[in-house]
Amino acid sequence: MEEAVAHSMRDSMVNDYLKERLERLKDNSEGAVADYIPELAAADDSPFSVAICTTNGQVYAEGLNDGDVDLEFTIQSMSKPFAYALALEERGVEEVAKYVGVEPSGEAFNELSLEGETKRPMNPMINAGAIAINQMINGEDSTVEERVEKIRQFFSKLAGRELSIDEDVSTSEIETSDRNLSIAHMLRSYGMVNDSAHDAVESYTKQCSIKVTVSDLAMMAATLANGGVQPQTGERVCGRLVARHVQAVMASAGMYNGAGQWMATVGIPAKSGVSGGIMGTLPGRLGLAAFSPKLNEKGNSVRAKKLFQTLSWDMGLHLMEAEAHGRVCVRSITSEEVPAADKGIKTTVRLQGDIDFSAAENFWRIIQDHGIPSKTLFLDLEKVDQVNAIGNEMLKEAKSRLTKAGYNVTIVDPDKVLK
Ligand code: DON
Repeated sequence: MEEAVAHSMRDSMVNDYLKERLERLKDNSEGAVADYIPELAAADDSPFSVAICTTNGQVYAEGLNDGDVDLEFTIQSMSKPFAYALALEERGVEEVAKYVGVEPSGEAFNELSLEGETKRPMNPMINAGAIAINQMINGEDSTVEERVEKIRQFFSKLAGRELSIDEDVSTSEIETSDRNLSIAHMLRSYGMVNDSAHDAVESYTKQCSIKVTVSDLAMMAATLANGGVQPQTGERVCGRLVARHVQAVMASAGMYNGAGQWMATVGIPAKSGVSGGIMGTLPGRLGLAAFSPKLNEKGNSVRAKKLFQTLSWDMGLHLMEAEAHGRVCVRSITSEEVPAADKGIKTTVRLQGDIDFSAAENFWRIIQDHGIPSKTLFLDLEKVDQVNAIGNEMLKEAKSRLTKAGYNVTIVDPDKVLK
């Protein structure tokens, strides 16, 4: 009983906050639904929802109206980072980079533009890059159906449930895709696309028509934020370096010609879609998504954008707003007499928290400044939560240097945090 009360209290704190923020923005009626895809033009513009998924797999989702949280909408351009992750998984960073760059273009999402010398699309977030990326998935000989199925399965793993395609939206868009067909023809003329322009656009459009809820998006984003491991299923969906690479490109190019302003004010690597969603990742912390169909002149949801700005501010989510790292990694340094057999005194240095470069550097400097008053040294890691690769290397190097200097070093590591 007590446990149930504690549980509902914990849930309600974040949910109540999210609900209150949705309410505050409910009267904002600026913008208009995307009208270049007939099915989207006919969409209800009232839904407004938000979801957060932590890297521990806890999801908090809220909607303004009944049913908003469970509403499925098409993923549209928010598919681009995830398809990019799949192409990187299949082909590797170097191979993909031969066809698509990682520079922000500063242009609208559907610009017919390529990099001057290489003739590659500038990045995978604009349509030219996304169409080329789509074509790299499942091999050159793949049929449209096989490629789309591969993408659908990958997105389903990211979301932790089976996703499906909105055939009405994709058919409706394919009938009005002159712009994307021009891009595909342009890519074909430079050898960036093998399929016919029609097949390339059909495959890309179906990728954009995969249906998600706001919670699905938050979980997909959280998988990237969690270094490629889906936080609820525990499945490794993509590599750590792939997740890092995708988020870096989202940070610089995800919001197209508004990317600089977005990073400066909101500070969350993000991607928007013309259905009205915005999803973002906070590396190591959480995935975030918001949905409201009315868009501004740059094609970003008006209310979702405002909500991201508010949440980033309230919750201190701006990537550049870093807390001081590793400053308190040395919990204590004590010396005590040991029985005569051990000849004299021993010193114990107790570390705490996460040991990364900053913490290890801090530890090494402190023990040198402090000095070690005995030749017997215990390095106690009992209160250390985790040690990353460089922290691990530096602690081992510290032990080896101390040993060479004549100290008798014992590492106390009951939870085996050191590799
Ligand atoms: O390429 C298109 O036109 C769409 N299917 C996706 C565009 C999109 O979502 C742009 N994002 N803000």
